[in-house]
Amino acid sequence: MKYWAELSGDNVELARRELAASLRVVYPAGTPPREVPWGLRMVAFESPQVTDLAPRLALTHRLLRPLSEGPVEVLRRAMKEEGGSGRSIALRTSSGSGRVAGLVPTLGRAYVEGGGRVDLTSPERTLVLLPSRENPMEFAIAEEVGVTERLRLARRPPKTLAFRKPVTLSPLLARALVNLSEVPPGGTLIDPFCGTGAILIEGAAVGCRIVGADVDSRMVRGALANLASFGVVPERMVQCDVGDLPRSLDDLPRINGGATDPPYGRASTTKGEEAGRLLLRALESLGEIVERGSRVAIMVPSPQMMARLPSGWGVVGEPIPLPVHRSLTRWVFVLRN
Ligand SMILES: C[S@@+](CC[C@H](N)C(=O)[O-])C[C@H]1O[C@@H](n2cnc3c(N)ncnc32)[C@H](O)[C@@H]1O
Repeated sequence: MKYWAELSGDNVELARRELAASLRVVYPAGTPPREVPWGLRMVAFESPQVTDLAPRLALTHRLLRPLSEGPVEVLRRAMKEEGGSGRSIALRTSSGSGRVAGLVPTLGRAYVEGGGRVDLTSPERTLVLLPSRENPMEFAIAEEVGVTERLRLARRPPKTLAFRKPVTLSPLLARALVNLSEVPPGGTLIDPFCGTGAILIEGAAVGCRIVGADVDSRMVRGALANLASFGVVPERMVQCDVGDLPRSLDDLPRINGGATDPPYGRASTTKGEEAGRLLLRALESLGEIVERGSRVAIMVPSPQMMARLPSGWGVVGEPIPLPVHRSLTRWVFVLRN
């Protein structure tokens, strides 16, 4: 089946990579997303369905099934045909598409002529009308088929956590990192610098078993309290230096991947250790406990920090810049063991 995804504008590349990674996890038969000229940031992909995809995604606004593309007359005929379903619709315009609003009554009437109904308060189907970015005379109609997690996660800022610190990651970014790790539901995901547990909460939300570690016992206790408030029981939670992970977890089966936001010595302390050195130690440790082929999504303050990786680790795709404010950019890397 053909589907479209409307990516969020916060970071389009991160959103596209999150979608591609999530598709590989839940529908490996799906195709990689490719840009299409409808609306603002639309990509198309094929997948057997999207039921398990929508509830994973943090950086996609909505998933759609394309119904018709072309000039107004083509859309009118398609709407009349769709009206034959007899079901009620709300026809909405996409964000940033003021110029198409005038077409809504015409297309709504065509749907009613075909036998359907319009119900703006509780429609059975929500259709979206999108302009072409390439041809002002062409439009597309698509049906919403999946509500993603974006709004729900955006309404849960870090300050709502029981135990929080200034370094707490936003649930949107934490979920995107988890998705980039490609740990499948039922697999085990580790965050070796778990802090308040924001990444672990999202790992559990997409069905992973979670293992957390932090050198600071207050963080471990706080993360456990946060997990408990979400009803999450971790597979394991340890207080240890990242270098001791292989020893602390030697009774666990191999871990399937990780997502983490290590300290850089600014907002979060490295306890005097040079940040690049700590990162190298972390990857060496992770290399001993993750399965071969596992991915780790990691956020670092500069791409140079990843110039030298311990043996066994490589970078997947391009690093993704994440502007934080004018003078600070962080970089998301996906590493593979
Ligand atoms: C940037 S914070 C992580 C924030 C976390 N993502 C959150 O949302 O709360 C980095 C964490 O690494 C921990 N840490 C620092 N040095 C460490 C080490 N050598 N081994 C393990 N954890 C360490 C710190 O205690 C801190 O909690």
